[in-house]
Amino acid sequence: MATTEHHSYDVIIIGAGGAGLRAAIEAKERGLKVALVCKSLLGKAHTVMAEGGVAAAMGNVYEEDNWKVHFRDTMRGGKMLNNWRMAQLHAQESPDRVLELEAWGALFDRTKDGKILQRDFGGHRYARLAHVGDRTGLELIRTLQQKAVSMDIDVFMECKILRLLRDDNGRIAGAVGYWRPTGEFITFAAKAVILASGGVGKSWKYTSNSWEGTGDGHAMALWAGAELIDMECVQFHPTGMVWPLSVRGILVTEGVRGDGGVLRNSEGKRFMFDYVADMFRAETAESEEEADKWYDDHTAGRRPPELLPRDEVARSINAEVKAGRGSPHGGVFLDIATRRSAEFIRRRLPSMYHQFMELAGVDITTTPMEVGPTLHYIMGGVRVDADTAATGIPGLFAAGEVAGGMHGSNRLGGNSLSDLIVFGRRAGMGAADFIEGASGEPTFSQAEVDAVIAEALEPFSRESGENPYDIQHDLQELMQANVGIIRTGAEIDEALEQLEVMKDRAANVAVKGGRIYNPAWNLATDLGAMLTVSTCVALGATHRKESRGGHTRDDFPKADPELGKVNMVLSQPQGTGVRGAVKVDPQPIPEMPEELKALFEEAK
Ligand code: FUM
Repeated sequence: MATTEHHSYDVIIIGAGGAGLRAAIEAKERGLKVALVCKSLLGKAHTVMAEGGVAAAMGNVYEEDNWKVHFRDTMRGGKMLNNWRMAQLHAQESPDRVLELEAWGALFDRTKDGKILQRDFGGHRYARLAHVGDRTGLELIRTLQQKAVSMDIDVFMECKILRLLRDDNGRIAGAVGYWRPTGEFITFAAKAVILASGGVGKSWKYTSNSWEGTGDGHAMALWAGAELIDMECVQFHPTGMVWPLSVRGILVTEGVRGDGGVLRNSEGKRFMFDYVADMFRAETAESEEEADKWYDDHTAGRRPPELLPRDEVARSINAEVKAGRGSPHGGVFLDIATRRSAEFIRRRLPSMYHQFMELAGVDITTTPMEVGPTLHYIMGGVRVDADTAATGIPGLFAAGEVAGGMHGSNRLGGNSLSDLIVFGRRAGMGAADFIEGASGEPTFSQAEVDAVIAEALEPFSRESGENPYDIQHDLQELMQANVGIIRTGAEIDEALEQLEVMKDRAANVAVKGGRIYNPAWNLATDLGAMLTVSTCVALGATHRKESRGGHTRDDFPKADPELGKVNMVLSQPQGTGVRGAVKVDPQPIPEMPEELKALFEEAK
């Protein structure tokens, strides 16, 4: 058996994006011995893809903004499937978390009188996104990284965790993984583990996610016996690049629309006016003239339809393309050049300017962009307690994209960066409180570690077998086609069948070469998680026979009020891994307290 390096910590945090870094800072401030473990380089996380801003009701642009309006917007955006307590804490605490970032060195754009400037985004009643041009996620991660490094938190980069480990009493005891540069194995003993591993996008063909987004944390939590909820709810961000093909899926920030960009079809029509759902009609402009007035003076009139929540905009673009009114490469046109000066565009959206210039040879100060939906985010995730981020497994916590509940069936743009810092901090606090209240040191079984390592090495022992890239390719095609932006029962059933076939194929993967920086082997070790999360998304989708937020069923086009009262809870017997049978159990969403319900009445 391969030798393993071993380390002991109070808390290990798996994932070093915004949530992981914020959790690490909190746990360290509580005097704990903390390790951050990430399979990529420190600072390279999907957090940077939240470009346009961090949502917080600071009231710097509109004095009338407050946490109650932000809470209401978030719940409505999520089509009321959200964990209301998470949405409440998020709306109440995000302004303080943003100010804390500023105190730690984040350089936000400014209003004329020196406050943090806030921009408009879809589904937010007021301009609410604190931002740094269109590089907000980058600034957030840079700030948290500097703070964490200054605190002497140990960082294990390019270290992939394969499995969580529990003790005989069911308490979390640590994790086992390997170093990507050397292929050597490593174990961590820990009194608490925080999952902050991000999303699942790499199982789809067109995604804003980078190679890291393989759903490791979702899958490891499920395999260890934790529950997942509402995995069918995945977000297609309306605007990804569609051309050239090699960069299809790369994000085009919603900040373009927030700053005045409009969507047009091949006939030059601002088609979003045709797709305003009843729920948003009262607050949405009815004509171009009315919408234009709003761009000139945000305090006047109703908001343009381009600033509806993401699920609404993505579906509308999809419908236009399907109706034959798309752009030459299968998207629609996003035009900011008509409304804004070249100086404004380059100052407010420098990354977008460079991205289109470098990758597509398009000057967005003169020419519309071609854009279309790209898989950006999963709303579903590990079921957690809102206040502590605790999962059902003692000692296991989850925060950020890997955790479910906060965003319901659709996330509003900007609410992920605020989610990361609000619930990253809470997960750090939750883990510290847990450790203070727990006694003894949990221990894991070496036999279990050996079994995980043996399984990871199997691909090297096969003379012939499947190429992991073939399985990844087929999985991405399948999920894009059958469990994509619009779904039907027959397509989802077909996907579930195909996923079982792919699990057989994955069990027969063969890899050549050694363990040192071997990307084929690295991918082979990701496939289990990719297949597990894809199965969970498809299973949730088959049970949710309605359309809600990021889950649209062509065969059930309307929201079903009864299904709006339940979370789809997924679980499987502990230790059964990628072949374990996943159970789906619709469970009632806890009742919202009267004082929060009243906020929706007030808004009428
Ligand atoms: O469009 C964007 O800038 C993305 C923001 C987000 O996902 O929150």
